[in-house]
Amino acid sequence: MVAPALPAHELSAWHDPEHAEEPDTYPALRGDRRVDVAVVGAGITGLTTAVLLAREGLQVAVLEGRRIGAVASGNTTAKISVLQGTRGAQLDARHDAETVDAYFAAHRAGYEWLLDRARRADCDLEHRDAVTFATSGRSSAGSDSVRREAAVLRRAGFPARLGTDVGLPFAVSEAVTLPDQAQFDPMPYLADLARELHDGGHAVHENTRVRSVSLLGAPRLRTDHGEVRAERVVLATGVPILDRGLFFARVEPSRSYAQAVRVDGPLPEAMYLSVDEPTVSLRTAVIEGERRLLTGGFGHRVGASTPTSSHERALAEWAAQRFAVREITHRWSAQDYQPEDGLPFVGPMRWQPRILVATGFAKWGMTGGTAAGLALRDHVVGRDNPWMHALRADRAPTASALPTLARANGEVGRYLATGWARPHLPTGAPLAEGEGRVETTSHGKVARCRVDGVEHELGAICPHLGGIVAWNDAARSWDCPLHGSRFAPDGEVLEGPATVGMASPPGLARVVAPRST
Ligand code: FES
Repeated sequence: MVAPALPAHELSAWHDPEHAEEPDTYPALRGDRRVDVAVVGAGITGLTTAVLLAREGLQVAVLEGRRIGAVASGNTTAKISVLQGTRGAQLDARHDAETVDAYFAAHRAGYEWLLDRARRADCDLEHRDAVTFATSGRSSAGSDSVRREAAVLRRAGFPARLGTDVGLPFAVSEAVTLPDQAQFDPMPYLADLARELHDGGHAVHENTRVRSVSLLGAPRLRTDHGEVRAERVVLATGVPILDRGLFFARVEPSRSYAQAVRVDGPLPEAMYLSVDEPTVSLRTAVIEGERRLLTGGFGHRVGASTPTSSHERALAEWAAQRFAVREITHRWSAQDYQPEDGLPFVGPMRWQPRILVATGFAKWGMTGGTAAGLALRDHVVGRDNPWMHALRADRAPTASALPTLARANGEVGRYLATGWARPHLPTGAPLAEGEGRVETTSHGKVARCRVDGVEHELGAICPHLGGIVAWNDAARSWDCPLHGSRFAPDGEVLEGPATVGMASPPGLARVVAPRST
């Protein structure tokens, strides 16, 4: 069966105003303020951490560069699960059993706290079995990794069971099921956390991008319209925005795709993740009053696989070959960070004890981000935490991480070199709507795109560390393949380690007046 057409624009089902009310808005920071803890980033990690610290009696301010849930947390498939593909088997191949068990203890704690809090929010919380499956044959590497995942989960005390009758309309060769996991709508949940902060007298500032952090004395966070001084700073920005920790070099940024799909006939009941490449995620959700299938996957390194729309089409075709797809109502994408040794980085930065970070959740940020909040709370108030040691942000790379680190940074070097070496010859062709390309001109490398009838021209150099950006035609953004910074068509920062937008070379107009092709 041929897949139906994709929607013209990216819009997460969770953000669609037809699906849910606009969340509360919070004013941008104006002027200076002083707090105990400043949290940068209003996704699940930042808001959970802020709520937990506020409950301890600390004065907290949350600073968000865009809107609450605008980045990963509002574009996730929103599974709350300790069964995470074959993450346990992957960790078990690189770490001792104590470390792997600590990882699962962290996610169990995150799962329990999140579920308890979500029950008090109107966020479509539903209990579901989680399933990881292979389709590549009983003796394939995929099936073998599924069996190993089951063994690792059982060792960690979870009731994982093997069996291929998992309610999918196609044959699977092996599957592991973990009962009683959950799924929800992340946006009302995040809105509820923000409301708890606001009602408790704490500051939440949207549209407040932190441009720099000064570390002389008490940290000072500079924004465009004010400064926040804090005893401690939590960087909950996907990848930390402060370069001194070099976390951008220890995690690999990847993008993956999601779609909400109308299907004729029965929908599968559980939450699913395939292990065979390309990995695919499935769950259902009630969107606009109707239960739909949410598909996801077909991920790749940020900025390194163009056109990005080809991955969206491949995901749509995958679904159409397995389900009676009537319509694709939403398409969107999200960014995740894969850590060098498979374990997140949570806690104080090395040599900067007042700066706390949380990154590297490898697509499992619902439980992982919540667990990070618990760990950061325990660290700040000096409470013992039985599993935090496994996630320490100030750990040195382990021997098992070195090959991954070398490969990832080799790729960074390759993208840096090839980005600059490519001639990017101008085609002379006018830009079509939604098109973007890098051209080498007398102004240097120029990023040109046309969105909603407006042409933008900017320098193609990523302001983080000088990568050459690539056009993401699915999300209509400029994406840097080095460390995953992303920029809007007009150059403003969307996400990643960059804190300032793409600049215009001297003599180059930033916005070119609308013209027809
Ligand atoms: Fe680091 Fe672009 S994100 S150079």
